[in-house]
Amino acid sequence: MSLTKQAIDALIFDSGVGGLSVLSEILRVRPQLSFVYVADNAGLPYGDKTPEWLQQRVSAVIAAACSLYTPKLLVIACNTASTLVLPQLRSEVTFPVVGVVPAIKPAATLSKNRVIGLLATPATVKRVYTDGLIQDFAKDCHVVRVGSSRLVELVERKLRGESLALDELTRICQPFLESTPMPDTIVLGCTHFPLVSTELKTVLGGVQLVDSGAAIAQRVQTLMGTSGNQPQPLRKILFTQLDTSIDQLKPYLKSLGLDAAEALIPPKESASGK
Ligand code: DGL
Repeated sequence: MSLTKQAIDALIFDSGVGGLSVLSEILRVRPQLSFVYVADNAGLPYGDKTPEWLQQRVSAVIAAACSLYTPKLLVIACNTASTLVLPQLRSEVTFPVVGVVPAIKPAATLSKNRVIGLLATPATVKRVYTDGLIQDFAKDCHVVRVGSSRLVELVERKLRGESLALDELTRICQPFLESTPMPDTIVLGCTHFPLVSTELKTVLGGVQLVDSGAAIAQRVQTLMGTSGNQPQPLRKILFTQLDTSIDQLKPYLKSLGLDAAEALIPPKESASGK
């Protein structure tokens, strides 16, 4: 039996809800974009996984999504994946792939005291790719790196209606608060983290927070050219595992025009991969 694949403007991918921070920036510049958002929640958190597992997993989930949809472009709205899988992924698909990587370059331009923070997942703070960004763009800066999968989990919970405990956030941010001098600029190198920027500002005081969302939206805008302006755009969210907590995400999803969540048949690989 052959199924007809549906054409869409963009396929947007993350392990969970983090990529929605990128999606909302994209919708700001392209409100009529037709898209499918894929959350690999069965594999979350990506920040604790081995590179081998992650490489295979992202390829498999994207292949599953591409068996249903033909996108004009793919956005890997995940720093943990983008800092690892982009070269291989680009060799596997025929459309442009936009990745999200930590905004070290803009942060180095903005920092006055030359102390920068990087708040990302444990995997992203350790990546060779991240070392390269620091070497290329922030050589004269001291970079304080904090990797936290717990914060990813807290953001997932916040979007499901739980409030974020500021004392726990303060503990996570302790290395920034204890640094002398404190970073004047902190890179949110995980797409989940802009979703708690208000709480982070409360904990971190007058620090400027930098993320890659708006730059990615501009990149998508350029690549879409005159397309991506559907009168009645398709908007869909697929999860690799439908669980009851997805119901609690509904109010947030609705604010992005996403009504019903559907299941994407998960790829065969195991979802543990530690
Ligand atoms: N949102 C993801 C990122 O930008 C990863 C979160 C996770 O699954 O650890 O890195």
